[in-house]
Amino acid sequence: MNISLRHTLTVCLLACGLCAFSQSPRSETLITNWRFSRTDAPAQSQTNFNDSKWQKVTVPHDWAVYGPFDKEIDKQTVAIVQNGEKEATEKTGRSGSLPWIGVGWYRAQFSVPADCGSAWLNFDGAMAEPQVYVNGQLAGEWKYGYSAFNVDITPYVNKDGRPNTVAVRLQNLEESSRWYPGAGLYRPVTLVTTHQRHIMPWGIDVQTMDCNTFTNTAKLQVSVNVSAWKEGDIVRFTIDGKNFDLNFPKINGLPQHTNAKAVVELDNARLWSIAKPYCYDAKVSIIDAGGNTLDAKTFKYGIRKISYGEAIQDITGKNGLGGFCINGIPVKFKGVCLHHDLGMLGSAVNKAALTRQLQLLKSMGCNAIRTAHNMPSQWQMDLCDSLGILVMAESFDMWKYAKCKNGYARFYDEWWRRDLQNLVRANQLHPSIVMWSIGNEIPEQGMKEGNRMTREMQDWMHQLDPTRPVTAGMDRIDNALSTGYAQILDIPGMNYRTHKYDMAYEKLRHGFLLGSETASTVSSRGVYKFPVAYSKGAKYDDGQCSGYDVQACSWSNVPEEDWVMQDDRPWMMGEFVWTGFDYLGEPTPYDEYWPSRSSYFGIFDLAGLPKDRYWLYRARWNNHQHTIHLLPHWNWKGREGEVTPVYCYTDYPSAELFVNGKSQGRISKNTTLTGADGPAFDRYRLRWNEVKYEPGELKVVVYDKDGRVAGEQVVKTVGEPDHIELIADHGVAGGLASYADMKPTDDPTLVSLSEPIKADGEDIVFITAVAVDKDGNICPDADNQLQVKVGGNARFRGICNGDATSLEVFTQPTMRLFHGRLVIGVQTTDKAGNINVKVTGKGLKSASLNLQSK
Ligand code: GAL
Repeated sequence: MNISLRHTLTVCLLACGLCAFSQSPRSETLITNWRFSRTDAPAQSQTNFNDSKWQKVTVPHDWAVYGPFDKEIDKQTVAIVQNGEKEATEKTGRSGSLPWIGVGWYRAQFSVPADCGSAWLNFDGAMAEPQVYVNGQLAGEWKYGYSAFNVDITPYVNKDGRPNTVAVRLQNLEESSRWYPGAGLYRPVTLVTTHQRHIMPWGIDVQTMDCNTFTNTAKLQVSVNVSAWKEGDIVRFTIDGKNFDLNFPKINGLPQHTNAKAVVELDNARLWSIAKPYCYDAKVSIIDAGGNTLDAKTFKYGIRKISYGEAIQDITGKNGLGGFCINGIPVKFKGVCLHHDLGMLGSAVNKAALTRQLQLLKSMGCNAIRTAHNMPSQWQMDLCDSLGILVMAESFDMWKYAKCKNGYARFYDEWWRRDLQNLVRANQLHPSIVMWSIGNEIPEQGMKEGNRMTREMQDWMHQLDPTRPVTAGMDRIDNALSTGYAQILDIPGMNYRTHKYDMAYEKLRHGFLLGSETASTVSSRGVYKFPVAYSKGAKYDDGQCSGYDVQACSWSNVPEEDWVMQDDRPWMMGEFVWTGFDYLGEPTPYDEYWPSRSSYFGIFDLAGLPKDRYWLYRARWNNHQHTIHLLPHWNWKGREGEVTPVYCYTDYPSAELFVNGKSQGRISKNTTLTGADGPAFDRYRLRWNEVKYEPGELKVVVYDKDGRVAGEQVVKTVGEPDHIELIADHGVAGGLASYADMKPTDDPTLVSLSEPIKADGEDIVFITAVAVDKDGNICPDADNQLQVKVGGNARFRGICNGDATSLEVFTQPTMRLFHGRLVIGVQTTDKAGNINVKVTGKGLKSASLNLQSK
């Protein structure tokens, strides 16, 4: 069997593919190359099982993303109670319609050094119900597919140099999820080997007790859980080039696992913040009496202080309780909820795809994410640390009372403590995480026992982590107030129901309230429906929603309904919009319409292309750059003379619109609207509702608050599709250093970053392919079928056009354009050099792109 182990701490690659070990005390290695099969037999756990015919796969791996999409997969006849449904109806596409249900096995080989004192496997999540066999013996198991867990394999491994076999059985039941969960070893698997006297897995905890922004001093509480400590051993914490030795409790006969502790004071402390997410390189080592390092672990640590509900004075001089403060400075959450799938990659986690998502969100001015509705991946948290993005790390979508037949409720009683413990232990060092969520729209919020359960769970979280508050997303606030569920939470989080915010605030007495889930506006990129009207639950024959951003679901709302609440009530802590990106499954309002199989809620579509809503949020959230964005496109053959409203999303207060040079009037935002008479659209958007379509040119001129012309944008009626253009998201010499350099009218997926392409076998270049007319204008309705060829030091990884009704798979190099665009994922090999991408399409001149990986 071919094994490749990708190093993280010590370099350990051997020609034969097995792991070799230097004298370094600890080795952490990703096990990436596995064999995979959908067969199921107990013998598959055994060392001598012949898996040579199994498929070779690279982990992280999602066995279901290859498709095909099929209406029958996880078809459910249910009433979605949470959506207010009373009657059961047939739901297709609810969990993505990809083949994620059933059993799958993975097998790999690894070796450990002869003197290995301790070895464990870390799974950052495994979908689902993983059973881990090492050399034929069951070494460990877990239930919840989103939990990270460690398996101590010391008793099972061969220490005489012979290879070891790890076999993992996974199973996914139908009706176990409300969205696409993915399937398989979709997050990294790491082999850790070290000395018998070692730092326990997730055994390091560093808490910022205080940091003073005037004196630049910081006080840290360091605690390290060590195994098999011996008299004379030193546990040392190193930060900023300084060493601090930890103390052991003064008791006789220390237990097997012991916590060593110290309070560490630092001068000239550099703080972690959203604007400057500074992280220190830190290290914990165990050193024996002879000065030998037995174990050492390096990690990043960001020093920052978070607080909630501190007394503050707002700019109007009013005193009140601040919502959230970081390093003493009040911050409102401009957040989005994210499900874990990555569109064309399915659930297989990848750093480049996560980086792209987070950078695009940052370009919008977004400062926070909520990992809906489950534990995040470590890679995502590392990136949030380094990019300065705040995180609400969530755990569950249900407790004991099932939302879907085979969901987490089956495991709740036995597992909730362990799952929460692993959430905290795996993530406690991430400065980006500022609160934990113990649940989303938990039915127990309205049940008597919900009170006890919430208290128990929150107490458990406080015990595990006294530094971060606990929240939960409540969708039935009246019930949650009557059971006491809402009052218990450190941070009351409300999902939707903005009309109940005032009542909840009054009754709660926390002094602040969080929009833990907001909006759920629905739209399809590039699709505009007429007549334009604010509506709930609207459906059309083509399975698409309108891009005018005026449609929501019965329980949800348009962005402006949240914004008046946040702008007019200083006690609102901000919001987490449902959702940043479209995700697989939950195709509301088309739960009963085939072939819809992915969501419409995203600000970005499933391909990561921005819908118009991107600029609506950007105009509000991005305080560093201006925004000017006109919609819709201006190709409406057949609508000549018909009313075709035009909107401008901008941070500027007023603008004038011209159609072929004729003014349609200069209008200003109406800041007096409170939302009492319907959504306050005109407070936040500039709308010309009576424009009659004529082909030609739309032009908007925007004015700043002093009435000076501040910019313009032109949108033209474009010609027939003529050729293809390709825009790589990064790796382009002369590209932007970051999206912060974009112009007010730019689309982030039509500009390139200069950031180099890494020849590490993992980096993915996301290339937007567009059909343009002979003058280079994007054709808004082009739907040509494209073919992709990738040559050089890269391979085709995936393709996606953002159409929620497309049944074309993501893993074949061909797809139709959806409203003129699609995105191609090209993954590097570990050899540096040329990458060529050629895209052809019927009726279009082809395009080639040459890139270089380094
Ligand atoms: C919420 C729920 C989300 C998603 C959303 C759709 O109630 O928490 O998971 O279902 O509705 O609007």
